[in-house]
Amino acid sequence: MISPELVVCADADQLAQRAAAIIGQAAAASIAQRGRFTFVLTGGSSPKQTYERLAVRAVDPAIDWSRTYLFVGDERFVPYDDERSNYGMARRELIEPAGIAGDRVFPMPTDRATPADGARAYAQTLQQFFDMPGGGPMPVFDLVLLGLGDDGHCASLFPHAPALQVNDTSVTWSPPGTLPPPVDRVTLTYPALNAARQVLFIVPGANKAEAVRDIWQNDAPPIERPAAGVRPQSGRLTWLVDKDAARLLAAR
Ligand code: 6PG
Repeated sequence: MISPELVVCADADQLAQRAAAIIGQAAAASIAQRGRFTFVLTGGSSPKQTYERLAVRAVDPAIDWSRTYLFVGDERFVPYDDERSNYGMARRELIEPAGIAGDRVFPMPTDRATPADGARAYAQTLQQFFDMPGGGPMPVFDLVLLGLGDDGHCASLFPHAPALQVNDTSVTWSPPGTLPPPVDRVTLTYPALNAARQVLFIVPGANKAEAVRDIWQNDAPPIERPAAGVRPQSGRLTWLVDKDAARLLAAR
């Protein structure tokens, strides 16, 4: 694994600017090398400023949305028009404003009978998209965007959750974690996250500081701080934190 990189940004706005630039660079490189950019979105509030920048093309190099395919890293098991939907948020903040065509966007299905059914369906979608006959190895996304929960979760991989132990498929489901909203989830698994060519964490805010310290300074185990388990086998791992989120780190 390439050494993980921790970048401390002055504030949330500079973090969003840096994140948009990294995503733009990943898109340009992926399209140049493979003719497409496969980009996994995160939910929550942290990405909104980044999505806004991407949507208005306030990024250099500009992203070629016609060669970009969007996925989601996790989803609340609610209808897409529910205010808690991660896809619903991405549609409002990025997909519609950027004019991204629907056939390039792959939301997690939340209309199945159970979240487990939704997870199976999404794993099949990924197998087809990445042309992995018979289940094959894991999908290799070009860039996975992740936020960090105050408890150190990422995607919907919550502390002590059974989903942390799933290593034979790319997508699983999880009951609610301890943080709101208290709804079942569908989530990418560690093997899917760790197969990515690049993982980018965006972590603004003082409420993340304890989890950042535990992961970056106290070597917290993934069972306690699940984001610690995101270690791409051969991909790049970059954490963008703002000064508030970095405030408990020893002087670097
Ligand atoms: C979710 C998200 C989740 C999020 C973190 C951080 O479905 O809730 O995908 O993993 O990234 O909880 O959330 P904030 O960005 O709102 O702090």
